[in-house]
Amino acid sequence: MQKNILITGGAGFIGSHLVRHMLQSYPDYHIINMDLLTYAGNLENLKDVEDKPNYTFVKADICDAAAVQAIFEKYQIDSVIHLAAESHVDRSISNPLEFVTTNVIGTVTLLNVAKSQWKGRDDVRFYHVSTDEVYGSVYDGEFFLETTPYDPQSPYSASKASSDHFVRAYGNTYKLPFVISNCSNNYGSFQFPEKLIPLFISNIVNEKPLPVYGQGINVRDWLWVVDHARAIDVIFHKGKNGETYNIGGKNEWRNIDLIRVMCRIMDQKLNRPEGSAEKLITYVTDRAGHDLRYAIDPTKLENELGWEPSLQFEEGLEKTIDWYLANQAWVSRVQSGDYQKYYAAQYGERLGS
Ligand code: NAD
Ligand code: DAU
Repeated sequence: MQKNILITGGAGFIGSHLVRHMLQSYPDYHIINMDLLTYAGNLENLKDVEDKPNYTFVKADICDAAAVQAIFEKYQIDSVIHLAAESHVDRSISNPLEFVTTNVIGTVTLLNVAKSQWKGRDDVRFYHVSTDEVYGSVYDGEFFLETTPYDPQSPYSASKASSDHFVRAYGNTYKLPFVISNCSNNYGSFQFPEKLIPLFISNIVNEKPLPVYGQGINVRDWLWVVDHARAIDVIFHKGKNGETYNIGGKNEWRNIDLIRVMCRIMDQKLNRPEGSAEKLITYVTDRAGHDLRYAIDPTKLENELGWEPSLQFEEGLEKTIDWYLANQAWVSRVQSGDYQKYYAAQYGERLGS
């Protein structure tokens, strides 16, 4: 099938796992990783695979049509797996326009180039990696299906919903072959320590407060990032054009329950008295417009394409904690960028620090 695959956002959390997975699984493919290296992108995430002969990195902005076109022409791109995005909900609340620029205009820029370069070819594919947040919040006992109407509630999810709509519109209007997946919350190594799990691991290590939004009763559905990369591989190769696939591990946790489990594991790993980490829990003002519950029904992906998660959550969480404890230098390096400023602005007042 396709051989020259453009992966956008390949230096980020999920992108780096996907690039590694594809390089290891398909030595015949040429993987071109295009990433702007924002605060969230880091080439250190790919150190172990950067010397592979079938790997090329290009620093470029997905909003830069000329740069995208040059990449398509130079590398004869015949597939795109698009992950580049602004991905953090809290940042979207403080700066929505940046999310419109990257997530909407960036996606449409890529679509435009793909449309003009591929000119009606049907042996090509545009794969948009999206989120379950486009469906909004779901009541207890109900689950997001591929047919669930879109109901995005944050600037981040509105921008991702918009980009999903543009991908479908290009499929309908210009017959651009596409596939979309909507995945639940990922966890694992190389996740930027602004998201719940890596932020709390880092704060526990440094004995800083753990800012739990609201009452901590919001529910998220967690999936190991490597299982997301495996799902993208399966959908990319076996998914049907024009289809959407939901990806999730049927693994729902209330934030506070997950945080308490993390606290227990961390006390053991750090040889601290039981209960030490829990004392750091600090309830803070809730996230504005905080979705209460996400829950994916992955039946279509499991039944039609034969994917299933490979790792139990407790094992994955422990593995993730071990990785962060062994890679404190990585955490310090990525935190030393504009993140420190952001962290102070985000939590300083609420935590009185
Ligand atoms: P991330 O923030 O870790 O990485 C995003 C990457 O995109 C970074 O490497 C960044 O440098 C790059 N990027 C940002 N703007 C760019 C631009 N203008 N041009 C080129 N590159 C740019 O994000 P992530 O958590 O790895 O998420 C990747 C994708 O998966 C996103 O589209 C996100 O919406 C989606 N997603 C994430 C999750 C999750 O739990 N993290 C779940 C479902 C879907
Ligand atoms: O569902 C998929 C989405 O999951 C992805 O599309 C997003 O890119 C990804 O960031 C993630 O969004 P969330 O908002 O769910 O993830 P986050 O880690 O920011 O928060 C998880 C939960 O923890 C959420 O209910 C908010 C809460 N939280 C988060 C942080 C950072 C806290 O209570 N305190 C915090 O400091």
